[in-house]
Amino acid sequence: MLSLCAFMSESIHIELGASKELKYIPLLPQIKALVGDEKNKIAVLANVTAALHQTLDVLWTGFYLVENGELVLGPFQGPVACTRIAFGKGVCGTAWSQNETQVVSDVDQFPGHIACSSESRSEIVVPLRNTQKEVVALLDIDSRVLAHFDETDRTYLETLCNWIGEQVF
Ligand code: SME
Repeated sequence: MLSLCAFMSESIHIELGASKELKYIPLLPQIKALVGDEKNKIAVLANVTAALHQTLDVLWTGFYLVENGELVLGPFQGPVACTRIAFGKGVCGTAWSQNETQVVSDVDQFPGHIACSSESRSEIVVPLRNTQKEVVALLDIDSRVLAHFDETDRTYLETLCNWIGEQVF
């Protein structure tokens, strides 16, 4: 059992040995409770990053924010990463330009993949949209393991990102 914080309203309790789905099912309501009615983007994205990263056993978890026509690095956990990504470039820029989640089983097979860490083998990138349905940010999660991400990740992370997008953007 993982306890991230001593305060009841700021705790995440997830069975780390559980299956992927049995982690996501309790994680999402706990993240919503943790965020509450907080509207500050950095505060919300930072805590969501921490909750996901410490639950999912991955290499890198973080957000890129749309700013002046490009993606700029936001809150993250893991190795240092590229600061800016252009529209349509890499997995993140592709998720943005196509307005669609990218599930990449093998990053070496993705044309134009941007290798921020040589340890990354697979990746999922999920768009966040504001209430006008514009892409305003991207959640990016990288794994050291090939084909780490699947439709279960897509389903739950899209639900989470849809909620965050409407909550804080
Ligand atoms: N691999 C990403 C770049 C961001 S890092 O993985 C943190 C991409 O191709 O867009």
